[in-house]
Amino acid sequence: MDTQSTVNLLLTRRSALAANMRKPGPSDEDLRRILRAGIRVPDHGRIEPWRIQILKKPGQKRLAATVAEAFRADNPTASDKQVELEYKKPLRAPVLLVVTCHPDPNRFEKIPLIEQQRSAAAVCQNILIATTALGFAGQWLTGWAAYHPRIRELLGHSPDADIAGFIYLGSKPKDPPKERARPDFDAIVSGWDGE
Ligand SMILES: Cc1cc2nc3c(=O)[nH]c(=O)nc-3n(C[C@H](O)[C@H](O)[C@H](O)COP(=O)(O)O)c2cc1C
Repeated sequence: MDTQSTVNLLLTRRSALAANMRKPGPSDEDLRRILRAGIRVPDHGRIEPWRIQILKKPGQKRLAATVAEAFRADNPTASDKQVELEYKKPLRAPVLLVVTCHPDPNRFEKIPLIEQQRSAAAVCQNILIATTALGFAGQWLTGWAAYHPRIRELLGHSPDADIAGFIYLGSKPKDPPKERARPDFDAIVSGWDGE
């Protein structure tokens, strides 16, 4: 394995804006590879508390309709233009993945909820990395819809499940995204020897 290029990939990976992604995005075969890499994550107790739904245009349109309805219901004074903007969000990219965490409460004593949710977050990040490695663009988003009971219900999830991410995938935008400010390494990393 070329470890150098793996680290270079991690050191240069950048999300693209979902709205800038282009067609066709990953093929079904590419997507399968991405998702196999996605679910190869640390998972304390082998609970496998995550599920992934693949939404292409038909699923995206159904989701978009409920997003618009829920937005209008919650924001009765919103303009048609604002509702339209929300409607369009799930349609932004060729593929929309919904990554959910379905924690097992019977295991909370040893494997608390937060650990099960962290494993779902690892799935999201692995998906972004594999997507980048295969030359596609990805963006991990949530927004209000990820926390809205109507959206969770529409997607068929119980109230104790949560949406860890909407991950948008597509072919790379025409122009590569500009680098964004990155953290100050020394502000984050320090040695600790107990003194
Ligand atoms: C859990 C999670 C949720 C996010 N939700 C949003 C969002 O709703 N809207 C947004 O603009 N960015 C959101 N982001 C940030 C985007 O993923 C953003 O594109 C990313 O931080 C860019 O950094 P990168 O180039 O290092 O990937 C979210 C990030 C995470 C980890």
